[in-house]
Order: sequence, then structure tokens, then C-alpha cells
Amino acid sequence: MGTTAEKTAEKTAEKTPENRPWMAEGEEKREMVREMFADVAPSYDLVNSLMCFRLHHRWRRMAVEGLGLRRGERALDVCSGTGDFLKPLREAGAAVVGVDFCAPMLAKAREKMPEAELSLGDACRLPVASGRVDAVTVGWGLRNVPDIGAALREANRVLKPGGRFVTIDMARPRSRFVGRASEFIFHKVAPVIGRVFGKSQAYTYLPKSTLQFLSREQMKQAMEAAGFGEVRWRDVFCGNVCMHWGVKA
Ligand SMILES: C[S@@+](CC[C@H](N)C(=O)[O-])C[C@H]1O[C@@H](n2cnc3c(N)ncnc32)[C@H](O)[C@@H]1O
Repeated sequence: MGTTAEKTAEKTAEKTPENRPWMAEGEEKREMVREMFADVAPSYDLVNSLMCFRLHHRWRRMAVEGLGLRRGERALDVCSGTGDFLKPLREAGAAVVGVDFCAPMLAKAREKMPEAELSLGDACRLPVASGRVDAVTVGWGLRNVPDIGAALREANRVLKPGGRFVTIDMARPRSRFVGRASEFIFHKVAPVIGRVFGKSQAYTYLPKSTLQFLSREQMKQAMEAAGFGEVRWRDVFCGNVCMHWGVKA
């Protein structure tokens, strides 16, 4: 915790538009988000695990199980970050490529999996030819892109017909009681954890961007509009996290 002067400076900084990526749109959002993840890359994995007791690994395994991958199939992990989707995809027998637009996040992924195929690229303009992959995964990525529809259409474009898609992201709990408790944790506790690591902006962004993110039903509609069928979802973490699967129609 900082001094009163530091806290005041932090509060003032949060109020200026250039420090509020959750308020930005289009190219401005893209750049602010990229800078924010470059800044948090060194502590991202540790804070992630602190905030959900390492359960995020289990959720990615669940998401991959829902894809029903067969040995030798090709999977693309979009917004790959520090690469935590790569391991469960590989364990399911897939050949995996990770794409992210933030080099410091990908550098962390490379440290964990030196042999991984990783590529710098944007979720809304994937550097992959059409109809090439059997599955696409996105972990906590769509909330950050400036155009969710474009990112979903790109995921659909690179999939083979019948290819499977899954996205996991933050969600708003259905229960009012859980919602209140979560609001306290994510709006009050997460920024404090962020502050301990000197990254209060990023962990203020998490709850703010969650409030602005698509509801479960809106995500289903957005996926259908992008060309996915058989859309289904599953809540975990008391409804604070939700995964949506779909199949390229
Ligand atoms: C919250 S992290 C999630 C990382 C990883 N998928 C995971 O499951 O832990 C979000 C990642 O999305 C990336 N990202 C955000 N917007 C992007 C975009 N438009 N194109 C590519 N990557 C993007 C960020 O650089 C960051 O690494």
C-alpha cells in the first residue's frame, strides 16, 4: 500500500482517459491493451494463480475436453499470452500454434515451452490461412479485443468445416448474493493485489472490462452471427467465469 500522496496520484491517473483501457475503443483500445499486457507479463502467471487458487488450469483442461480433440489434429490458441492453453491442448494429442500480439507475453510462453510454435499476430487479423485448423481456443482474450465480432469471424474462418471453438472468459454471476461478494473481491481486492505488484491499472481493468463484456446470451448470439452452431456454455467459479463452445457450421 502506498502513501496518501501516491494513492491520490494513482486515483488521478485512473481518471485520465489515457489510463482507462476499459473506456477506449478501436485502435486506441488495441494499443492500450497491448501496453498493459506488456507491463504485467512478468507477474501475470503469479497474480493469475493468486486470484483463482490455480483453478484456471483446471478450467482450461475442461474447455479442451469439451473440444473432443483427436490425436494429430491441429489447434490454434488465440490471445495465447503466457501459453497456458498449450499444455492441455498438447496433452489431448493436438499439434498447437499460439498467437498473441504482445511479445513480452509470448516470451513468457516460450520460457515455459521452448519448442512451442508461437506467432505474433492480432486476433482480428489472424496470420493463418482459411480452413486450416481443427480447433480454436481463446482464454480470457475476447474481452480485450476491440472488435469481438471480427475476432469470432477470424476464428471461424481459420477452422475447417466442423471445426470446434471454445472461449473462456470472465462473467457476471447470476445470483445476486454471489454477485455482491464477487463485486467486492474483484472491485476491491483485485486492484489491491495489483497494487502490491505495482500494476493497479491492469487489475482495475479486470472488473471494469468484465462489467462491459457480453452476457452469456450475447456471446452465444455473437458466435452464431460469426458462423458457429451447436453453441453451449458452462459456468465455473460460481458464475464468475464462463466457457462457450461452438462448432463451425
Ligand atoms: C488475459 S490474457 C490471457 C492469456 C491466456 N490466453 C491465458 O489463458 O492465460 C489476454 C491476452 O490476450 C492478448 N490480446 C489482447 N488483445 C489481443 C488482440 N487483439 N490480438 C492478439 N492478442 C490479444 C494479450 O496480449 C494477452 O496476452
